[in-house]
Amino acid sequence: MSFPINRPRRLRRTDALRRLVRETQLHPSDFIYPIFVSDLIDEPEPIDSMPGIFRYPPKEAAKEADRVFKLGIPGVLLFGIPAKKDATGSESLKQDGIVQKSIREIKNINPEIIVIADVCLCEYTDHGHCGIINQGEVDNDASIYVLARQAASFAVAGADIVAPSDMMDGRVKAIRTDLDKNGFKNTAIMSYSAKYCSAFYGPFRDAAGSAPQFGDRRSYQMDPANAGEAIREIGHDIEEGADIVMIKPALAYLDIISKAKERFDVPIAAYNVSGEFSMVKLAAQAKLGDEKLLAIEILTSIKRAGADIIISYHAADVAGWLNLS
Ligand code: PBG
Repeated sequence: MSFPINRPRRLRRTDALRRLVRETQLHPSDFIYPIFVSDLIDEPEPIDSMPGIFRYPPKEAAKEADRVFKLGIPGVLLFGIPAKKDATGSESLKQDGIVQKSIREIKNINPEIIVIADVCLCEYTDHGHCGIINQGEVDNDASIYVLARQAASFAVAGADIVAPSDMMDGRVKAIRTDLDKNGFKNTAIMSYSAKYCSAFYGPFRDAAGSAPQFGDRRSYQMDPANAGEAIREIGHDIEEGADIVMIKPALAYLDIISKAKERFDVPIAAYNVSGEFSMVKLAAQAKLGDEKLLAIEILTSIKRAGADIIISYHAADVAGWLNLS
């Protein structure tokens, strides 16, 4: 059957009709809100590259986490900026490390808030790479040992979920083994399984002071040109014990999200990264578009592609907008 019998505009006539047939709805429960915690400050500090986003000391981070939880967002993802960096990122293993202190403060304010701790070395190493350097190269097997110890340390502090973002091979298995050996069988793993070597991380590296001091991350993060490889990476991580798998960035990789959703039966997370966020902010500041409409359209596309969980710096704003509408 075709026109004039078929008239798709019949169902687009009014707001109520459009709502009735809408296939994708954002909800505050879809989101995770990233929070930067810093050992270098006593007061929240604005991040120049990410308008409206701050670095927090632990107590203030807990207040921010509680504020977003009350908006309906189930959890936060913590990134730590330590007071000291060294070759092996040893600060990240200490119980008085910045992330460990922040986890305890958040759980103290409200134990219901899901606390996810990003597991990586780039914020803690003086060279800014995500692993241990050996003869000028990132040494995979030496790195996964340290990453597993870091994940266990976050679990001791009370993290519900650990999220390895380093892209070393075998790190999910190393982390699962270390957690289980130490009695943390209920600490979940959300793996950054398909993490691309992306130019969209620029603002984050400024926020976390984690830019590599030599070379780049192409020997461990994925080539943006590859799709089949993402499916293999996700498959490995599920076999190794990942409870949730992530695709990152989100907007330029909607095809990967969609393929992963069709293929795998675990929750799929997508990371709406710093560059995606700041582009919208700066476009809105330059009056090239409306921030709310741009953000909701992008986030809806990520959910429509198949993401069950969206990590976004826009999460708190969106939850506010959704609660109003
Ligand atoms: C690495 C890490 C990065 C991001 C999350 N974890 C940066 C990188 O790989 O250089 C980027 C997040 C964002 O851009 O919002 N620990």
